[in-house]
Amino acid sequence: MKKVLFLALILGNFAFAKDMWIYNIKTNLLDPDTKAVVGEIYEGTPVNLIKKDDEFSLIEIKGEASAMDDKVLVYKNDATTGMPLVSFLTLNDKKAKSGDKFLVKSSDLTDKEYPSWEEIELVYYDTCTSCHAGHHPAEHLMNEWDAYLSAMQYFAKINDEEKARILRFLEAHAKDGFAKEEE
Ligand code: HEC
Repeated sequence: MKKVLFLALILGNFAFAKDMWIYNIKTNLLDPDTKAVVGEIYEGTPVNLIKKDDEFSLIEIKGEASAMDDKVLVYKNDATTGMPLVSFLTLNDKKAKSGDKFLVKSSDLTDKEYPSWEEIELVYYDTCTSCHAGHHPAEHLMNEWDAYLSAMQYFAKINDEEKARILRFLEAHAKDGFAKEEE
């Protein structure tokens, strides 16, 4: 009986490593030891939750270092061109590596994918449906969205930051994007 209980405890601990998503336009990444701010991570990024308390959560992020900026960890789906890509996080001075661990505020995580994109989805349809019907993100490939959005930036009167945020949403939910949950 005792043995069974012990095993259940161990398994319970392992089972805790869990898929979560960043639930904020962007949030600070903190060094797990010093709690100094070392970078930022963007909405909708999938992370692995390792440990959690009321204030902070220890997370691990898988991705690839960007070929254009090695402080940026990205999702990319074309190994030959290295483009297009979706930024997961940006570090201030260190090189980004897959499997890096950081602390983030626990309130900036959600255990479902869809809510992490809900706000930017509204912004997208708000911004991009005044002249034509909204195009569902899955209508196009990641690199097509990159081109379309560059063409539409002037029409939609959005600045580079707004464009980058909408592009992350569109590429993540593109036919070949990483986001899985149906909207
Ligand atoms: C001020 C009007 C206007 C706004 C706002 C606008 N568009 Fe467009 N869009 C157009 C026009 C006009 C066309 C067709 C002519 C062209 O392709 O240049 C078009 C074409 C497109 C196409 C190509 C459709 C196809 O099947 O060929 C896509 C995709 C698109 N827009 C996406 C967007 C996105 C994303 C946004 C928001 C950032 C946006 N549009 C905002 C006017 C607009």
